[in-house]
Amino acid sequence: MERRKIIAGNWKMNMTPSEAVALIEKLKPLVATDSADVVFCVPAIDIIPAVEAVKGTNIGIGAENMYFEEKGAFTGEISPAMLTDAGVKYVIIGHSERREYFAETDETVNKKVLKAFEHGLTPIICCGESLTQREQGITIDWIRQQIKIAFLNVTAGQAKDAVIAYEPIWAIGTGKVATTEQAQEVCAAIRACIAEIYDDATAAAIRIQYGGSVSAASAPELFAQADIDGGLVGGASLKEDFGAIVNWQ
Ligand code: PGA
Repeated sequence: MERRKIIAGNWKMNMTPSEAVALIEKLKPLVATDSADVVFCVPAIDIIPAVEAVKGTNIGIGAENMYFEEKGAFTGEISPAMLTDAGVKYVIIGHSERREYFAETDETVNKKVLKAFEHGLTPIICCGESLTQREQGITIDWIRQQIKIAFLNVTAGQAKDAVIAYEPIWAIGTGKVATTEQAQEVCAAIRACIAEIYDDATAAAIRIQYGGSVSAASAPELFAQADIDGGLVGGASLKEDFGAIVNWQ
């Protein structure tokens, strides 16, 4: 089965609302393509102007986080219904920066994944090992555990529509991209883990991105791998390079 590539930018804590609109206007013509899904995951305050700015284009807007409750006394949080009402289609869940600085755990990731599906949002579920874990040889065990917990109580019908982003922590924002072999090996292991949890059809349908210092130079070889279905792109998604990454073929 041919999986459609999905290439998502993760803007992180960059771009004011007016800067966001200016960047979208600049990137719009560069990321136009029929052959992949293109997503801009933007800061919460940029969502409304960003959704307006991408109207009539191939770009989908994603959030970088959300809370797992419906509504209520959770000062500072954003609910799934707020995202869908604003026109958001995707939400990054469990990025390593949220795990490191904002106490996200595999358990909160799971709650958020379940809530995202309940609201028809496509979760981009992040996983990845630290440099120490890689050096200790426990990368695959670690990632399998992250995946198994993230997908607890998620149905096969939901799982097939999920996006998983494999992002080795040591490769994020460091300019140290994983080798093609390292990235493919882990993405294949993630697909095998999904096959174990569900079945071969679900594993064949789910899309797995690589993230971590993806650039216009590294994207073509990475995206050509059998189990890599696109990328989650940080730094390079704020530049014209994102056009070349999206049109990697
Ligand atoms: P990077 O970030 O491309 O700047 O390494 C990727 C990410 O954190 O999603």
